[in-house]
Amino acid sequence: MSEPLRIALIGAGIMGRQHCQHLEGLAEARLCAVADPGPQAAAFAVECGMPYFADHRRMLAEARPQAAIVANPNNLHVSAALDCIAAGVPVLLEKPVGVHLDEVRELVAASAHAGVPVLVGHHRRHNPLIARARELVRSGSLGRLTTVTALWQLQKPDSYFDIPWRREPGAGMLLTNLIHDLDLLRHLCGEVSEVQAVTSNGVRGFANEDSAAVLLRFANGALGTLTGSDAVAAPWSWELDSGENPVYPRQADQPCYLLAGTRGALSIPQLRRWHYAEPGAGWHQPLLQSLESFQPGEALRLQLQHFVKVARGEVAPLVDAVDAGNTLALIEAIREAAETGRACSPHVISAP
Ligand SMILES: NC(=O)c1ccc[n+]([C@@H]2O[C@H](COP(=O)([O-])OP(=O)(O)OC[C@H]3O[C@@H](n4cnc5c(N)ncnc54)[C@H](O)[C@@H]3O)[C@@H](O)[C@H]2O)c1
Repeated sequence: MSEPLRIALIGAGIMGRQHCQHLEGLAEARLCAVADPGPQAAAFAVECGMPYFADHRRMLAEARPQAAIVANPNNLHVSAALDCIAAGVPVLLEKPVGVHLDEVRELVAASAHAGVPVLVGHHRRHNPLIARARELVRSGSLGRLTTVTALWQLQKPDSYFDIPWRREPGAGMLLTNLIHDLDLLRHLCGEVSEVQAVTSNGVRGFANEDSAAVLLRFANGALGTLTGSDAVAAPWSWELDSGENPVYPRQADQPCYLLAGTRGALSIPQLRRWHYAEPGAGWHQPLLQSLESFQPGEALRLQLQHFVKVARGEVAPLVDAVDAGNTLALIEAIREAAETGRACSPHVISAP
């Protein structure tokens, strides 16, 4: 068995600390340094018994990690990841991969040129529940996928927005939250070719949106809707429904995604499947239900285990910067659609 991979943390806020908790339980990797200029970061590094650096560039030069987790504010993702790549250090980069596509193109080029991999933290794809749902859709058990209904409706406490970057452009519900749902919709249902959208900041009044309604046209012909708000006392979201993260009290009976096809339908996260005994029997016949099974697993832990293999060059990233860039392209298309009132297509990016 090889030595545990030495992983540094850049950005020791809420998400960075969650990664550290999962790292503690892994035999194949260990934390080796913390870099974060924030007021609480030095104390956190002491708590973990780790060398502390205010500046991640100094950390890269002095601690010489074998890999790094970047969990700083969204608009610093690409610059920190570029510094890691320049130091030859593979990166687990939190989502969103960046805040605009031009910088992501730069990241994609740098990663390819240096041969240093970037895994983007769309961790929900690592959830075995999602893997099973994808298998069901891909196997054709729903027939031709026709309609997709996605919900992300919950209430963040007002105190969440005490941290200034969360109220500013570069954060916001689209980039911070719906990006997860859009990533999963791409993963489960295929690429989106066109969107229409309306957004609002009417409840919170910040510089970024608190609510959005999006129409989606998938390249395979399916049509979808995604409605989101971080300001509603409602139970429909991956966070509340999936039980993936115990900090959110669970609403286990509520779905957040409903996929319907010509031969069947699926609710997620329940993995409840509907179909007729005779395909095409129609509404006078009983619609049969079954619960699909899967082996549960912790997505963040599975993502870290995958990252160790990526950093060691054993596997390609499940979500690389190109892939995550194409989810960001959807966010940009949604913004453009909301601003212009027109249907917009994402400006997809590809590997160099
Ligand atoms: N995958 C998920 O489900 C998930 C969940 C929450 C947040 N996130 C992502 O994680 C990132 C962090 O979010 P958060 O909620 O933990 O935010 P946070 O504000 O709690 O933490 C951000 C940390 O970055 C630090 N920081 C600021 N400038 C820095 C710099 N130049 N170098 C290093 N560190 C710096 C801050 O001091 C702070 O400690 C965001 O990109 C967010 O989108 C992902």
